[in-house]
Amino acid sequence: MHLAKWVTIAAVSLAGAAAAQDGNTLNIEGEELVTETAAPEHMENVKTIYSGWRFRSAETQALETDDFDNPAFVFVEQAMDLWDKVEGAANKSCSSCHEDVADFAGLRTQLPRVENGELVAMEELINTCRTERMEAEAWEWSKGNMTAMTALIGLQSRGMPMNVAIDGEAAPFWEQGKELYYTRVGQLDMACSNCHEDNYGVMIRADHLSQGQINGFPTYRLKNAKLNSIHGRFKGCMKNIRATPFAEGGPEFKALELYLASRGQGLSIETPSVRN
Ligand code: HEC
Ligand code: HEC
Repeated sequence: MHLAKWVTIAAVSLAGAAAAQDGNTLNIEGEELVTETAAPEHMENVKTIYSGWRFRSAETQALETDDFDNPAFVFVEQAMDLWDKVEGAANKSCSSCHEDVADFAGLRTQLPRVENGELVAMEELINTCRTERMEAEAWEWSKGNMTAMTALIGLQSRGMPMNVAIDGEAAPFWEQGKELYYTRVGQLDMACSNCHEDNYGVMIRADHLSQGQINGFPTYRLKNAKLNSIHGRFKGCMKNIRATPFAEGGPEFKALELYLASRGQGLSIETPSVRN
């Protein structure tokens, strides 16, 4: 069995997926979030979808329920400074043109999306403003200033349901993402689906396998004490199965991001979430 191959320390308890979630309700700053809902119709093998929050330990879960305790908020505050920081030849900051970051409410729920025939992620929207409108340098996909800004912008949609478009001109990108999700890669010859669809709820080592949802990104990980981008996480999972990861910001990861977003339709945005 492929999963067993990956698990070098035998700590697998085949508890069965459905029974393995915690019973908790996620309440952040008085607002109740959706961490469990019926799977969208396009998902043939899963009936119910769950936020990754449901698979974390009680201590990790608690960190996300209060913004004061949530370690990601240090970075959100950094982003608020960046928002007002003048940079580049045009002598502008984000706030020179965007009146209020709250105007981005809803944006996170709809990304990535197709623009002029290209699939566009939030990082690219930000960098277009930096390079073309501020005449400043682009930020690297997973570096601190970018993940801080995607956290600040994503936070404006917290509590709103994921809602990406997958039809029309998005369809071919979605198909590509689906194909990648089910394709076995790497020395361990595994697909995303082998863990996050076939075995969620199972313990591997000390880790409780989730459905690999992206509704909480960027995510603060206790493991590396920083914000982690969506593509950074994909990269980590590919490395774990000893596959050569695709490039962050490249067409494969953007397609996979769209497909994964569509597997989370209806879950609340939790940005910025806390994971181990
Ligand atoms: C010179 C003016 C200007 C500056 C400076 C600027 N933007 Fe923009 N930004 C725009 C315009 C114009 C658009 C496209 C129209 C729109 O969606 O508001 C846009 C679009 C966006 C979008 C996509 C919004 C959407 O709903 O599609 C994001 C996100 C964004 N900007 C973030 C930023 C960030 C973060 C900064 C600072 C790093 C920044 N912008 C700096 C003018 C600017
Ligand atoms: C060998 C099993 C395995 C495979 C294969 C795998 N992952 Fe993961 N993944 C994990 C583990 C373990 C975690 C951390 C615990 C969790 O959240 O499930 C994780 C976490 C994630 C998360 C974070 C979820 C959250 O709530 O923050 C995402 C997103 C993710 N994986 C996507 C992928 C994608 C995309 C692929 C395919 C390219 C993939 N994974 C392949 C084991 C795997």
